[in-house]
Amino acid sequence: MYDFSGKIVAVTGAAQGLGRAIAERFLKDGAEGVALLDLKEDVLAAAAAELDPAGSRTLAVPCNVADPDSVARAFQQIRDRFGWVDVLVNNAGITRDALVHKMTNEQFDQVLKVSLYGTFYCVKQVIDGMRERGYGRIISMSSLANRGNVGQANYAAAKAGIIGLTKTLAMELGPKNVTANCLAPSLINTDIIKTVPDKVRNAMTASVPLRRIGEPEEVADLVAFLASDEASYVSGQCISITGGLW
Ligand SMILES: NC(=O)c1ccc[n+]([C@@H]2O[C@H](COP(=O)([O-])OP(=O)(O)OC[C@H]3O[C@@H](n4cnc5c(N)ncnc54)[C@H](O)[C@@H]3O)[C@@H](O)[C@H]2O)c1
Repeated sequence: MYDFSGKIVAVTGAAQGLGRAIAERFLKDGAEGVALLDLKEDVLAAAAAELDPAGSRTLAVPCNVADPDSVARAFQQIRDRFGWVDVLVNNAGITRDALVHKMTNEQFDQVLKVSLYGTFYCVKQVIDGMRERGYGRIISMSSLANRGNVGQANYAAAKAGIIGLTKTLAMELGPKNVTANCLAPSLINTDIIKTVPDKVRNAMTASVPLRRIGEPEEVADLVAFLASDEASYVSGQCISITGGLW
């Protein structure tokens, strides 16, 4: 358990999977307000209602992170309700897998737009406030695939881009007491891995030293640590969470 009392958190891609588990963790650890952002309005509303039936500490914000106007509207809603953002978790991401010789421009574009541009657009919405208040935590979801992965040139490029963006944010915002870090998970048990063929998934699981796929709550634990006061001197890092793989 960490103590996030008084803290306002925004999590993108929070309707399901890792984002939902992360939002849940911040609520359990006492965050004053948690904004859940996602494209899927119905799933998002249901998640927010389940996590906080009274609705006193959550705000479900429909948002397409790939669209800067949608992101600007979403963060205005968050500021109107909670006033500011202390912790931003850039979690929204998609896959559009294909070998490069078959990958369309659109597939490449879509993945970059959601993961990398979406992260940049959300960061732009919070950093002025973080700089003014002299406090902030920016945590973004990269992937072990940042090293390159067959069939995922778009995803690998986006996730490697997030590492470069994170390291730069750490350098630029460090003097204002804002930290920026990212996570590089391998296979975690969410919907996103349903597109991975069974054969590949089984082979990957067998190659993991811990011999299993990770659970969303285990990723949420690491996000919570990076957002906590206990991680006050950790910045500019990309931390692998892979059950020992690599
Ligand atoms: N699950 C894994 O094995 C794994 C491994 C490494 C990295 N990741 C990364 O973790 C993050 C979360 O993945 P997940 O497994 O929970 O996936 P998921 O597909 O279960 O959830 C992703 C969420 O993002 C939302 N989303 C997609 N496009 C969006 C957009 N344009 N605007 C707003 N929301 C949008 C979806 O609606 C969905 O709710 C992603 O960035 C993913 O790349 C996941």
